[in-house]
Amino acid sequence: MTDSAAAIQLPPKPRGTARQGLGATNRRDEWAVAPVVQGLLFTLLAGYLFVSGVLVTPLFGTPYEVDGYLSPLFSPLIRPDWLPGWVSPGLLILWIPLGFRATCYYYRKAYYRFYFADPPGCAVGEPTIHRRFRMETAFPFILQNFHRYFLYLAFIPLFFLWVDAFASLFPEGRPRIGAGSVLFFVNVTLLTGFSISCNSLRHLAGGRLDCFSCTRRTRVQYSLWQRLTTLNGHHMAWAWVSFISVTLADVYVRLLALGLIVDPAIRL
Ligand code: FES
Repeated sequence: MTDSAAAIQLPPKPRGTARQGLGATNRRDEWAVAPVVQGLLFTLLAGYLFVSGVLVTPLFGTPYEVDGYLSPLFSPLIRPDWLPGWVSPGLLILWIPLGFRATCYYYRKAYYRFYFADPPGCAVGEPTIHRRFRMETAFPFILQNFHRYFLYLAFIPLFFLWVDAFASLFPEGRPRIGAGSVLFFVNVTLLTGFSISCNSLRHLAGGRLDCFSCTRRTRVQYSLWQRLTTLNGHHMAWAWVSFISVTLADVYVRLLALGLIVDPAIRL
């Protein structure tokens, strides 16, 4: 048997206990509302961030920094001389946070339901065409397994976003407390919450231990794991509020740079 023939002979997915056929279910609640709302919001925000971070500046020359505020999509700003004008500097860094979000376990659940109906919801039947889907065992979805590495990388832009938030308090060396700085601090706090509530970080802290109380080190790990578990319980909320805040921070800088709004600020 050839490799391709073997690939076609995949065992069918387990049938589970859900009723068969797309949308078939015994559930009586409005189970479709959450996947649709989450899928639309994900598409809207991810689409905006891609257009703003990758297309807007090369196409229209819209600035991404103004008066001590740098859009979070471009931080840390890497603008080498060899970079052609038609390539956004955002591309050099944006692949990390976008890769981190795209491979997040929570978002996977959201967009698998919305885009692929795989499944459309808990205890809801999926299309029969899915019976032999390979999903995360084959390209491209096997790349989801890089999530842990995106987590490591995500701490790099996160560190620079904290630097940016503090730097925005001292544009040109003079203290200023502006609405933009407040927005930057809120945003980076929410992004930190999103990152440290990650399932992979929780697993890293204590997921591989057989005994939590055996040594001093494992007891420390257990304590850390407990705290991360508490944060992880709200990972969905962290995911949404940080997605919205990073979008708002970029919109704020863009509008400020275009002169369409002013930054209310106390300057000392
Ligand atoms: S599981 Fe969501 S960021 Fe890791």
